[in-house]
Amino acid sequence: MKKKLLVLTGGGDCPGLNAVIRGIAKAARTNGNWEVWGSIEAFNGIMKDDPEIIKLTRRYTAGIHVKGGTIIGTTNKGNPLDYPTQLPDGTWTTIDRTDELISKIKANGFDAVVNIGGDGSQKISQALFEKGLSIVGVPKTIDNDLSATDVTFGFSTAVQIATESFDRLVTTAESHHRTLIMEVMGRDAGWIALHTAIAGGAEICLIPEIPFKIDAVLKRIKSRYKGGKGFVNIVIAEGAKPIDGKVIGEQSNDLGDTHVKLGGIGNYLRAQLEMRDCPAQVRTTILGHTQRGGTPVAFDRILATAMGVKAFELAKDGAFGKMVSFRNNQVTSVPIAEAVAKYHVVNKDHYLIDTARQLDISFGDK
Ligand code: F6P
Repeated sequence: MKKKLLVLTGGGDCPGLNAVIRGIAKAARTNGNWEVWGSIEAFNGIMKDDPEIIKLTRRYTAGIHVKGGTIIGTTNKGNPLDYPTQLPDGTWTTIDRTDELISKIKANGFDAVVNIGGDGSQKISQALFEKGLSIVGVPKTIDNDLSATDVTFGFSTAVQIATESFDRLVTTAESHHRTLIMEVMGRDAGWIALHTAIAGGAEICLIPEIPFKIDAVLKRIKSRYKGGKGFVNIVIAEGAKPIDGKVIGEQSNDLGDTHVKLGGIGNYLRAQLEMRDCPAQVRTTILGHTQRGGTPVAFDRILATAMGVKAFELAKDGAFGKMVSFRNNQVTSVPIAEAVAKYHVVNKDHYLIDTARQLDISFGDK
């Protein structure tokens, strides 16, 4: 009898998820001794009384590596450690359903699980592993903020989308002599903003790791308008904040979704500049989820596929509690515990910070 592998995608989606799923399914078919199933919307599918799971046959996985999103769906409201549950009096609370989840996975005959997800999802993987579940993690995030891997798939696609948008903003900024602010994703890490600033040729780049001073931003803008008509393009990460201010966002109202919805720092900056003697008209563009949707670029397809194949290999070899990782140009693995211990953020001594400063890109700190 064939062994059974359960695959799921959790948290926010990311270009390349389908390429991972296909990589796992194809490697399993090549191996011949395993069948691969997908749990619909993270662990929610397998937790249902009548489990919502699909067998990932060729029919489902053929050609999906070029497709954005995830064919098995995802959610950020299905944390089995903190599962939203309604009490008899109608009020809601959250409960730990991990024991029940592990029993369900075993009762359905699964020998191993591959959890494809970001920091939050891998923390869940680690908790389940510690409770005895045979689980392997695959890192995913456009923000590139996971430790223990040099890069995550989805990041290159997000940078490509942001850079293409930035290029378009440059020509309109130049025509109108405007200062245009483009807000990109990046909660705790400014990787997307930093890469886009260099690829696109920004004048100012504002990231969560370097709190900015409005006056320093204004100084750089003024320097561009000195002696005539200039233009300025700014890229700002959603998690960036002024030195004496805070991150802008709102608490999600969705039960079970604990994360703060970031967004709005670009408009905040515009308003602050307009209140001062900014020499130009200022406009803000928020790229938002366009950075997460659509087809992955070739690099992300390749990385995601290789990570999928590696995840199958780890599951087949019984290397549980491990997360697939890309390090020094090799697809390898690390303990999940190591991967979730801290965020991978932009260090002030990273070579791209120096590159940017040499290009006279201001981080708004001086
Ligand atoms: O973590 C990836 C990410 O894209 C962040 O950059 C962003 O803040 C967040 O997801 C948005 O999540 P959601 O779509 O759940 O609001």
